Amino acid sequence: AYTAEPFVPDGAGLDQLREAAAGCRGCPLHRDATQTVFGTGDPHARVMLVGEQPGDQEDRQGRPFVGPAGKLLDRALDEAGISPADTYVTNAVKHFKFTQAEPRKRRIHKAPSLRETTACGPWLAAELAVVEPELIVVLGATAGKALLGSSFRVTQVRGTLLEEEIHGRRELLVPTVHPSAVLRADDREAAYRGLVADLKVAARALS
Ligand code: URA
Ligand code: SF4
Repeated sequence: AYTAEPFVPDGAGLDQLREAAAGCRGCPLHRDATQTVFGTGDPHARVMLVGEQPGDQEDRQGRPFVGPAGKLLDRALDEAGISPADTYVTNAVKHFKFTQAEPRKRRIHKAPSLRETTACGPWLAAELAVVEPELIVVLGATAGKALLGSSFRVTQVRGTLLEEEIHGRRELLVPTVHPSAVLRADDREAAYRGLVADLKVAARALS
C-alpha cells in the first residue's frame, strides 16, 4: 500500500519533518507536482487548520493556502476573531493533484483518492504530535475523512465542537466547509457567512 511512513523521521521537530517531507515518495502524487507543500505557521499555535491539498499557487510557491482559497480563509478567520498569524496551517495531502489537457495548459485540481489521503496521513499525524494544538479546524471532506474516518460527512457536523481520539490523543475539532467550496458556491455570500459562523464556534471554544 502507498504510505509516507518510512519517510517520516522519529522524534523530529517541524523543520526536520518539512525537510524529510520534501523527499517523500510515499504515493505517486510526488511525480507530477512541483514540490511538497508542508504545513506552516506558529509551531505553538492553539489552532491547527487542515485543508485538502495544495492548489496551483501553493504548488508553485511551496506554502499552503497562499492562493485565492487562502486569501478568503484569512479574511474569514479574521472576521471570526482568530488571528491567522496565531494558527498553524496544513493539508491532509502534501502534493498537488491535477489534470492537464496539454503541457502549458491550466492545471485543474483533482480530488485526492482515499488511498492517497491515507498514504499521506503519517505527515499530518507527525504535525499534530509536534504542534499539539488545542483545537483543529477541519476544512472540508478530505481533511474530515483523514482525521475522523471515511464515514465523515461535513454537512452533518459542520459548526459543531467534536471531541475525538486521534492517534491516541483527545482532540477538539470544529469541522467546516472548504474555502474553495465557498469560491465555487452559487450564493458565495451565504457560503462565506456560513464559513465565518462555523469559525466563530472555533473562536468561542478557544476563549
Ligand atoms: N486548498 C487547500 O486545501 N489547501 C491549500 O493549501 C490551498 C487550497
Ligand atoms: Fe508523500 Fe503525501 Fe506527497 Fe504522497 S502526497 S508523495 S504521501 S507527501
